[in-house]
Amino acid sequence: MTADSTRIAPSLLAADFARLEEEIKRMEDAGADLFHLDVMDGHFVPNISFGIPVVEAIRRSTRLKLDTHLMISEPDKYLHAFCAAGADSLTVHVEVCPHPERTIEAVHSLDLECGLAVNPSTPVDALFPYLGDVDLALIMSVEPGFGGQSFLPQAVPKIDALRSRIEGRGMSLAIGVDGGVNGDNAPSCTAAGARLLVAGSSVFGAPDAAEAIRSMRSQA
Ligand code: DX5
Ligand code: ZN
Repeated sequence: MTADSTRIAPSLLAADFARLEEEIKRMEDAGADLFHLDVMDGHFVPNISFGIPVVEAIRRSTRLKLDTHLMISEPDKYLHAFCAAGADSLTVHVEVCPHPERTIEAVHSLDLECGLAVNPSTPVDALFPYLGDVDLALIMSVEPGFGGQSFLPQAVPKIDALRSRIEGRGMSLAIGVDGGVNGDNAPSCTAAGARLLVAGSSVFGAPDAAEAIRSMRSQA
């Protein structure tokens, strides 16, 4: 895989939780590059998903990397716990980090990669001061909180603006997009510069998950 290839991260929020291990294997066999774990606190977002014990259980079930998307109000309090649970990277929201540079440093000091996410209503410029420090910039293409929503096309110009900024400054972080991503909108995301596609419903709900992953990846 080249540095510029597109990675597909199935969001386990769309899995059948009663068969989590089977679902993980199904996605590995289908060609998933890593897993995206959506942690929701019922405070930053209006829904509660799963937390530390479930991340630990997922860690025991796969060797693929686990990117943990913390949709929680006070991420700084829990970085260490998610690291200990086996996460490989932690993605936090710029909206809830009073000092993003400190949070990023704290994640790196745990030897984990750090992502910074923005909600649909947050201007992409909010990420600009931190692009030199993070490993991933994640553009939300739905309001965070629920899987299965429709892709918001205004994410695409945000991806494009990020790519210009990153290229203009010779930086090398990845751009990701999360929410409602499927075979129809993946080409516009990758054309704009996204190299990490997070996809829940479109891969778990596909009649052929391998084909769904392959088609999203090949459209880059
Ligand atoms: C939304 C989550 C997404 C979502 C992706 O709050 O951050 O990761 O679960 O799932 P789909 O692809 O179904 O939108
Ligand atoms: Zn997510």
